[in-house]
Amino acid sequence: MDLEPTVKTAVWPVDATKLGKVAVVPHDNDHLGELVIELDSHSVDAQRIQKAADQLRHSDIPVAFPTETVYGLGADATRSEAVKGIYKAKQRPADNPLIVHIASLGQLRRLLQPFHANGNGAAADQIPAIYEPLIRRFWPGPLTIILPTPQDSTLAHEVTADLGTFGARMPRNVLALALIKLSDKPIAAPSANASTKPSPTAAEHVLYDLDGRIETIIDGGPCTVGVESTVVDGLSDPPSILRPGGISLEQLRECPGWERTEVGYKDSSEKGTKPKAPGMKYRHYAPKATVMLFERGQKLDKANEVLRTSSKIGLVRTKGWQVKKHRDSVQITQEDPKAPQSTHEAEMQPGYKGMLAELQNQASNAPQTTYSLSNDGTLIDIQLGPRTSDIARGIFSALRDLDRQDVETILVEGVSDDEEDVAAAVMNRLRKAAEVKIDA
Ligand code: TXA
Ligand code: MG
Repeated sequence: MDLEPTVKTAVWPVDATKLGKVAVVPHDNDHLGELVIELDSHSVDAQRIQKAADQLRHSDIPVAFPTETVYGLGADATRSEAVKGIYKAKQRPADNPLIVHIASLGQLRRLLQPFHANGNGAAADQIPAIYEPLIRRFWPGPLTIILPTPQDSTLAHEVTADLGTFGARMPRNVLALALIKLSDKPIAAPSANASTKPSPTAAEHVLYDLDGRIETIIDGGPCTVGVESTVVDGLSDPPSILRPGGISLEQLRECPGWERTEVGYKDSSEKGTKPKAPGMKYRHYAPKATVMLFERGQKLDKANEVLRTSSKIGLVRTKGWQVKKHRDSVQITQEDPKAPQSTHEAEMQPGYKGMLAELQNQASNAPQTTYSLSNDGTLIDIQLGPRTSDIARGIFSALRDLDRQDVETILVEGVSDDEEDVAAAVMNRLRKAAEVKIDA
C-alpha cells in the first residue's frame, strides 16, 4: 500500500453563479429540457472548471468536486486507467462498484445502447419505464438508479465491478454538471474520502484525506444534503432501496410503480447475509474515536458512565439531549424532542429549473452547520439542532471535527428513523460508524 504523497494538491474555490451563462432550454423528447452552460472566458471560476474538465479527459489522477450530497472523486468512466486512479487514491476495495454521473438524459441513453448500435432516435427509450416517474421528480438530485449494463458497454469494467448492472445518477449541483458536460464524459465518482472514513461534505475534508494523492479539489462550499444518494433497484419486483440516502422511502412510495418499494439493506451487519449494494458490507464512516450511538429512547446510563470515566469526550446532540453541569460533573438527560413544525422543510423543486432557482436563493438558504462548541478540556459538545436536514448536513463534519481534536469517545444522540425524511440515511451511517468500533 503506497500512502506516500505523490502529487501537489490544489484547492480551487469556484462560484457556481460566476461561470457564465447557465440556462435551461426546452428539448423535444426530454421533459427535463437541456441545461446549457456557456463559460465566460474572463471568469476565473469558468477557467478553473474548464481546467478540471480537461484533467478529467486526459489525466489518470481523479478530480474531487462538490455534489449536493457529498464531495465526489471523479474520473472518466470509459477509461480503465482513469478509473483505477480512483481506487488507488481512496485505497478502495476493487469489488465495490462506482456510480456513474451524467448531466443529461441523452448522455444516459447513449450509455445504455450497445457499443455498436448506431442510435437512430426512433429506437425505444433505453431507460426502463419504471424509472420515469423517479427521474421526473428527483433528478437532478440525490437518487441513484440501477440499470443493466449493455453488451460491449463503453464503461470501463472497473466501474461496474463486472456486476451486469451499473448505478447512474444526475447530481444537483451546477459545478458537478458543468464538469460532466465540459469533459463530455460520464464521470464515475465515489465519495471523495479515504476508504472507511466519514464521507466529505466540504473541500477541507477531501484535502485532509487525500492531500498529496490527487491534484485538484474543486471547492464549491459545503454540501446541501450531507448524506449520499439513495440507491434504488427498479429492475426487480417489487423495487427496493439498496442504500438509504437523500430521498426517503416515503417519497419513493408516492411514485407510480414504487408503492410497494422494499428496504433491501440491513443496518446491522448480520453474519451470512450478502448485501445487494456491495459497498454496504464494508467498514465505513468510521472516525478513529469509539463512536457510541444511542438509539432514540435508549437509556443514558452508559453515556453518563463514559462522561464520568473518560478524559476527553465528544458529544453530538440532535433533538433532545440536555447537558447539565454541576461543579465538577456533567450529566446528560433526555428531553422531549422539539415540536415537529420546527423540523419541517419544503421539498426541493424538480428539474434543472428547480436547481437553478435554488442557486439564486443560495444566500438566504445557505446551509447552517450549527455547531456550538463548549470545550472545558474534557467535553466537546456539538449541537446539530432538531431539524433532520440540518443533522444530515452536519453529521459527517461533526464526526471529523471531533476526530481531529483527538477525543477518545464520541457519544451520539440518535434520531427516530421512522420519520419521512433523511433520518433513515443518517441512522444507517451512524450505526455503521458505531457498530465497527464497539465490536472491534
Ligand atoms: O451521493 C452519492 O451517491 C455520492 C456522490 C459522490 O454522488 N457517491 C457515492 O458513491 O456515495 P460510493 O461509491 O461511495 O457509493 C456507491 C454505492 C455503494 O454502496 C455501491 O455498492 C452501490 O452504490 N452501487 C454502485 N453500483 C451498484 C450496482 N451496480 N449494484 C448495486 N449497488 C451498486
Ligand atoms: Mg462512499
